[in-house]
Order: sequence, then structure tokens, then C-alpha cells
Amino acid sequence: MRNTSPEKLLHIDTARLYQKGVGAEGIAPSMLDALTPELKRIHRELANKSTGGLEAEFACLNLHTAMPAAFAQIESMAHAIREFEDVAVIGIGGSSLGAKAVHRALSAASPDTSTPALHFLENTDSYRLQSLMQRCPPAKFAVICISKSGGTIETVAQYLILREWLEKTLGRDGARRQQWIVTDPDHGWLRELAGRENIASLPVPPRVGGRYSVMTAVGLLPLAAAGIDIRALLAGAAANAARCVSDRPGDNPALEIAALFYLLDTGKNKRLSIVMPYADALQLFGDWYRQLWAESLGKRIEGRPGKPTAGTLPVTALGSVDQHSQLQMYLESPLDKFFTFLAVDAWEHDLAVPVTEENRKAFPYFVGKRLSNIISAEFQATRQVITDTGHPNMTLRLPALNAHALGQLIDLYQRITVYTGLLYGINPLDQPAVEKGKKLAIQLLRGDDLA
Ligand code: PA5
Repeated sequence: MRNTSPEKLLHIDTARLYQKGVGAEGIAPSMLDALTPELKRIHRELANKSTGGLEAEFACLNLHTAMPAAFAQIESMAHAIREFEDVAVIGIGGSSLGAKAVHRALSAASPDTSTPALHFLENTDSYRLQSLMQRCPPAKFAVICISKSGGTIETVAQYLILREWLEKTLGRDGARRQQWIVTDPDHGWLRELAGRENIASLPVPPRVGGRYSVMTAVGLLPLAAAGIDIRALLAGAAANAARCVSDRPGDNPALEIAALFYLLDTGKNKRLSIVMPYADALQLFGDWYRQLWAESLGKRIEGRPGKPTAGTLPVTALGSVDQHSQLQMYLESPLDKFFTFLAVDAWEHDLAVPVTEENRKAFPYFVGKRLSNIISAEFQATRQVITDTGHPNMTLRLPALNAHALGQLIDLYQRITVYTGLLYGINPLDQPAVEKGKKLAIQLLRGDDLA
């Protein structure tokens, strides 16, 4: 897919998170100054814990340097997958949301009709799977099964159904050649299966957790199969990483944003973090962010009276659609929220609004306007109302909808999340409550009592 302006950086505007930009509900420079020693400390901690490439505790922040070594292998597998018309990408949570978000963002911008259609299968929903099997000829159908643990039940159950379906028509050997597995390099049922049946497979770096893994084979294999420029995606991540090396918030956007978000919660009682993209293509980015933020930061902090959990509740909305749905409540409910607007600067496709003699009288302001002018006016107007209401807000502007910009955005959010977790003093990499739920579901399927 075309990558129009790989060199351009995200435009990051934090002015309205400060008192100067939004009034009393914003952060005073003195609050940020008081946090400076702590910011230096966590920056140092993160630098230490991310030294060592894929072996580092925070290996997720090194993928832009570590993964290029795997590009050739990923691209060769992707090339084979591209022979098929339909591809089921089975996975859930961190094993799906990143690729799904990037795929939606970039295939909406420049649909490449020569590549297979990707079908992301997450929920165990028979309607979806059944209709896919009814519509698609098995011989033209590939399966990518993605699970770091190699045993997540939603993923495995659907994989077993699709394997059986392929085998009925193609035989065990034929079916095997239409399957790809992405999982832990050494452990788990999927790894064992890949070895036993000689199914093509790629490893998930052991120290990279699900929601941080979109820039490993977890995201890169399906994205490359869909014709997305994975090199540009990682180049974008590298470009953002290069902006985030300083321990001074003024010179490191991820550190500054993490500090401001942390202070908005702890100092200004903001409990909701709303991300509102103004582009359909970025709607699923909101879902990816929601998981990253919630699973990383939604953790109990002992001894924090009244606010036992870290982090703010992530909420996603879509501009301008949700102006006609959520905005009323955002404006008249308590000042317990802050917003992030995502906007796109250059639209590759931008339809002009036709104005005829007949409609000119009713809509004179449409003359010479394109759809991007309208969405941009909606965004700016809503941001102004949100600001006037006193809600702190930040704007991230993508130079274009391309892989480089998406790579920057992903890297930026991963860094913000990790810094914020360190500020709260929690581990942003684990998800103990999710693990508990997974175990209980298996207990139920076994017929065990939950009590
Ligand atoms: O971020 C996470 O760790 C989780 O959301 C996992 O990605 C999700 O539970 C799926 O796990 P797995 O990749 O082991 O199938």
C-alpha cells in the first residue's frame, strides 16, 4: 500500500491539558515541576529495564530495532498467504486488536484488492464462523492462528472447527499447508502442534505481552498478508521512539503525556480517559487503546484511599458520530474526564460536496468544500465546546493515514502506558485478573463448581 509521507511526525498538542489552555481543571506547571524528580526516576527505571533487546523486561519498547531481523521470514510467509482469497485471523485480546486496528485504518485508506480478505475471529460466535464456512471455498481459505499462550479457549475452539472443515475437503496434508501459527517459541499446545504437524509458525518473543505485541509476528504476519507495509509501520515506531529518549517532559512527548494523565487523575480527580478519533479508519484504534490502557493500568493500589485502582477508565467515542450520541453527557456530566482527539491532516481520498443552484441557497457554506473540511470543522467545534466546558484535552494529528503514522501512534501509546504504570507504582505488563477469568471459564467447561 502507498505510504505518502513516511518522514512526517505526529503533531502532538498538549496545550489544553494545562491550566493555560483549559482553565482551572487543567494542570498547573508547578504540578508538573513537582513531579520532575519522579519523572527522572521512572525514565531511568524504564531505560534500565528496556536494555537488552528482546531479553529486556520491557522488550515491547525495543521491537522497532529487534523485529526487522524477522522481516524476511514474515514477508515470505505473508507472500504464501496472499495466494488465498480469504484468511481467518483467529486470536483474541492482544492477539487480535492491534492487527485489526491497523488493518482497518490502512485498508480503509487504500484498499488493495489484490490481497486476501482478512476475517478477524475473536468471539466464539457460531453465526460468524458458520457464515464464513458457507461462503468461502476451503481450497482458497487460509488460517492464521495466533495465541501467545497457545491455549486460549476462544482461539483454540475456532481453530479446531476450521481445521476440521479444511481437512474434510483437503485432507490432513492439504489442510496443513493452509495454516499458519503464531505462538510462544517453546511452550503451549499450539507450539507443540506446529512441531508435531510441521505447520508453518512464527514465535512471539516471550517477554512481549499480548497487548504490546502488534509489532511482533502477532500483528506483522496478518498485516503483511493484507499488503500493509510493515517496514513503514516499524519505521514509524522508531521515529516515535527517537522522540522519547529524554528524561525531560518538555523533550519527550510520551513522558509529558504520561505525567499529565497521571496528574489529571491523582491531582484533578479525572477518572475517565476518552479517546475520540475523527476518522472511521481509526475507530478500532480506540479499541486497541482501551485494552492497552485498561489491562495495563487497571490494578489495585494498596493504601490509596478512595481510589483503589490505578489508571482512568478508558472510553472510546467516534467523531463526529458520537457528537450525536455521547456529547450531551460529556458536556453536562461532572468534570471527571479528559479527552484525546485524533485527527488526520491529509486525506488521500477526499470527496467534494456538489453544490448546485438548487441546494446552494440552503447550504452556501458547502461551496468549494470537501468531506474533510466538514469533519475538520466538526472536530474543531467539538474541541472548542469541550474546552469551554473545562475538560482538559489533547490532540494528536496524523500527517496521513499511513503505516508510518500508525507505527508512531502505537509506539507513543505504548510508552505513555508504560510510563504511567511506573508512576502509579504498578506493573503495566501483567494482567492477573484476566488470567483468573480464563482459568475459571475452563473450570466451568470441565463441569467443576466455581465456589
Ligand atoms: O494482553 C493480553 O495479555 C491478553 O489480552 C491476551 O492477549 C489475550 O488474553 C489472548 O491471549 P493469548 O495470546 O495467550 O491467546
